[in-house]
Amino acid sequence: MTKAIRIQRYGGPEVLELVDVDVGEPGPGEVRVRHKACGINFIDVYQRTGLYQNPLPLVLGGEAAGVVEAVGAGVTHLAVGDRVAYAAPRPGSYSEARLLAALHVVKLPDAIDFETAAAMMLKGLTVDYLLRRTLPVEGLAPGDCIVFHAAAGGVGLIACQWARALGLNLIGTAGSDEKCELAKANGATHCINYNREDFVARVREITDGKGVKVVYDSVGKDTFERSLDCLRPFGLLASFGNSSGAVAPFSPGILAAKGSLYVTRPTLFTHTSSRERTQAMAEEVFEVVLKGDVKIRVDQRYPLADAAQAHRDLEARKTTGSSVLLP
Ligand SMILES: NC(=O)c1ccc[n+]([C@@H]2O[C@H](COP(=O)([O-])OP(=O)(O)OC[C@H]3O[C@@H](n4cnc5c(N)ncnc54)[C@H](OP(=O)(O)O)[C@@H]3O)[C@@H](O)[C@H]2O)c1
Repeated sequence: MTKAIRIQRYGGPEVLELVDVDVGEPGPGEVRVRHKACGINFIDVYQRTGLYQNPLPLVLGGEAAGVVEAVGAGVTHLAVGDRVAYAAPRPGSYSEARLLAALHVVKLPDAIDFETAAAMMLKGLTVDYLLRRTLPVEGLAPGDCIVFHAAAGGVGLIACQWARALGLNLIGTAGSDEKCELAKANGATHCINYNREDFVARVREITDGKGVKVVYDSVGKDTFERSLDCLRPFGLLASFGNSSGAVAPFSPGILAAKGSLYVTRPTLFTHTSSRERTQAMAEEVFEVVLKGDVKIRVDQRYPLADAAQAHRDLEARKTTGSSVLLP
């Protein structure tokens, strides 16, 4: 038996319960990982509220780091005792230990500690596929401006630093002046406090009226339409999250009216559906971290039992950078 944070029904943070669960032995293609640290992500909130539905009861969590404890038949890239980390589509990481498909699990370089790893897999792999593979038709070149919302969050601060390393001018947005300063200290060229300023007008001003080639929008409902207004003709809106709520249905006609725009709604787990792609992307993340181009900030730590407080803080926009649960 092992401790885990489980929900029996969808709802607020109060539905998170610390329970004992039976983990069992790994089946073919699976491993059992004993967690040292578990990442917290906004997707965990969507899964708790039922915006994204899974069968119940459900142990939450999609990201963690730890040690391989048992290996199922057919798994060749991992062995008992390996230090590992993962981002997995099937929740279950808010726990002391779990079973999961080995294809999502990668070995951790010695120089990366467990907390850092737990804070950077799901978020770092996301920034990797966004900035390197979710591109406007004309591509991105050093010197180009991009807009990245919620720039002081977990994904956001990694994006600020990675964009700087790629030579991109990242125009961030964030909900307070302090968060904007943090984003700028981490590589954003500009950061707009969207609670106080009209971010469309500011983006137009910063880009001499031209607009940007791509907007990475994880805020969703509150920003979607105005994000389109930040784009130049043929620009791309990558709508990759819904922290303010799901985006309302829209008519494709608005994309014509605003300049032959493109919209995509990507998810990490399409990119990491094979072991080879997961490994290749993880190596790209490890490289920028080991080079020091991207520093992973763990700004909030909670005991596993305090997962409900972690969710309250995340939803109240009180957090910056990454948060971890410690089993
Ligand atoms: N599609 C994918 O593959 C993928 C993968 C990973 C993450 N994501 C998405 O990326 C986003 C960031 O994830 P994260 O885990 O790093 O979270 P995070 O950015 O650390 O936290 C979310 C941030 O969103 C902003 N926000 C704006 N409106 C909000 C509202 N009404 N309620 C709560 N927050 C609001 C807040 O920043 P401000 O106060 O600065 O506004 C808040 O801190 C999430 O939307 C997540 O779903 C998508």
